[in-house]
Amino acid sequence: MSSTKILIASDHAGLELKNKIIESVKNKGVVLEDLGTYNTDSVDYPDKAVELSKKITSNEFSRGILICGTGIGMSIVANRFPGVRAALVQDPYSAKMAREHNDANVLVLGGRVVKPEIAMELVDIFLNTKFEGGRHQQRVDKINKIGLGKKGE
Ligand code: RB5
Repeated sequence: MSSTKILIASDHAGLELKNKIIESVKNKGVVLEDLGTYNTDSVDYPDKAVELSKKITSNEFSRGILICGTGIGMSIVANRFPGVRAALVQDPYSAKMAREHNDANVLVLGGRVVKPEIAMELVDIFLNTKFEGGRHQQRVDKINKIGLGKKGE
């Protein structure tokens, strides 16, 4: 996905990891559009999650990465937005499954939870693993119907 623009955002607790990820993927030709936060001043994670998720819902961007202290708050907020399938991931297997089975379009990380080396691996998997489709497509279709006034049947 080297030519695709991908969003990234964090709160103050995810700032350090966000900056490391931006630096790391730059060497691989991936441009991350950084929505902040840009300094260590305390910022409310819902504000950053909303900013990024709106751009996924509107199809302005197809992928994003959110980072807070645990990743929990960011994932709670992001998954309220139609079309956002945010996966809070801490290990490579889950990162792979999040793409192959769930077609996750937002990767959520806990800056105070995952080691930076692992986080880089998770980002790499997230960016380079394809959705398997097939039987997983009908399940994702059911997710996508939720909250749109249709029964998820
Ligand atoms: C900030 O202290 C912390 O609550 C936030 O980064 C996140 O972990 C929330 O889920």
